[in-house]
Amino acid sequence: MLLKPASDYLKNRGLSLDDARYSIFDTRCSMLEKRTMDPEGQTYGADDGPHTSKLLRGKRWTIEMGRMKDKKNTKSQFTNESSKLRLRIIELEKSEAEHKEAEQTLRESEEKYRLLADNTLDCIWQMDKDLSFTYVNPAIFPMFGFTQDEWIGTVLAEHCSSDEMKKVMIIIAEELKKKETHIAIFEMYLIHKDGREIPVEINGKIIMDKNRNLIGFQGSTRDITERKRAEQDNEKAMKKLQTTLEKTVNALAAAVGKRDPYTASHQQRVTKLAIAIAREMDFSKEQIKGIRITGLLHDIGKISVPAEILGKPAKLTPAEFEIVKSHSQAGYDILKSIEFPWSVADIVLQHHERINGSGYPQGLLDKDILIEAKILGVADVVEAMCSHRPYRSTLGVAKTLKHILQNKGSLFDPEVVDVCVRLFKEKGFRFE
Ligand SMILES: [Fe+2]
Repeated sequence: MLLKPASDYLKNRGLSLDDARYSIFDTRCSMLEKRTMDPEGQTYGADDGPHTSKLLRGKRWTIEMGRMKDKKNTKSQFTNESSKLRLRIIELEKSEAEHKEAEQTLRESEEKYRLLADNTLDCIWQMDKDLSFTYVNPAIFPMFGFTQDEWIGTVLAEHCSSDEMKKVMIIIAEELKKKETHIAIFEMYLIHKDGREIPVEINGKIIMDKNRNLIGFQGSTRDITERKRAEQDNEKAMKKLQTTLEKTVNALAAAVGKRDPYTASHQQRVTKLAIAIAREMDFSKEQIKGIRITGLLHDIGKISVPAEILGKPAKLTPAEFEIVKSHSQAGYDILKSIEFPWSVADIVLQHHERINGSGYPQGLLDKDILIEAKILGVADVVEAMCSHRPYRSTLGVAKTLKHILQNKGSLFDPEVVDVCVRLFKEKGFRFE
């Protein structure tokens, strides 16, 4: 602490304490250079010497007329001391400047983040390890109706149901098990001051010290009311679209049935077997939906085949059979412009293809045939052989299964055949 006269002296000359400190350093350097002061701060006057001597840093110095001399009259030692002091002053000044700059940067950064936190629509928060809020930004008010002061100091459990709290505790327990904590993103409901439940998305992180002791939590909360509403609207629209699609498919299948009742029931029975095969092959729910739609429409192209040929109570002539064969392409042409979520038109086109290339209309080989078309192909043959036709009676299940087993790997996909046989022999599958 400076004495009052000294501080007044500095003040009157517009000098700071640092200025005074540097001035003292400067004087000290100057004295060292002139060798009227030794590095230990001892000063000498004109009356000192000529017989005074002093041992300093391993050398004996003599003092004459207030100045120090060694035997060789070298200046190096004191000049070095002086240089070191001057360098130290420069370092101190530089360090001081850097420190001031860092402080300014930090202040600007803090201001920037404060502005961000104050103006964001998301609620930014910090909680201690007991889930008590230690900070929230002003967004808390528009989101939940509480002021920052009202919210800080409350615990999370006050702002949600016990079920939601259990959910949060499970997430925290899971996060604590991990080697490194990441940002956990999850949805939950928090309660507004007026009692409404607000759907929110939480982005939260566990804060730990270097010894992995829990310190607290920090993160952000976003009101997702609008997103939830949009999701619900979307779901409703999807359900409506699904219903429309089902009705359209049923209407198309019914149109076929008006003209040819056999084809209508054949499509339903083929669909039942194809779905059973797909389930046994662990197809996803979505894939099975696609198989159902495709099964119900796979022979829709028969709408273009004359009714006399379809209902002919005798074996077809080669020319008539060629006309019947065109139903795969006709079905594709009818369905290709409809944007189903599955490859319905392609599967319909391929349902008479055989893996050795002997099928129609394109003579595709195994690798080029869609798995759904392979399933539908087997289900189609099995149903047809098991049914009564105008020109023959049923061939029976045993004969039908023998036929597909004989042609397993040549006409039919081996896995599909095995699954189909297992369904009949071990799982009790029946068409009726
Ligand atoms: Fe067919």
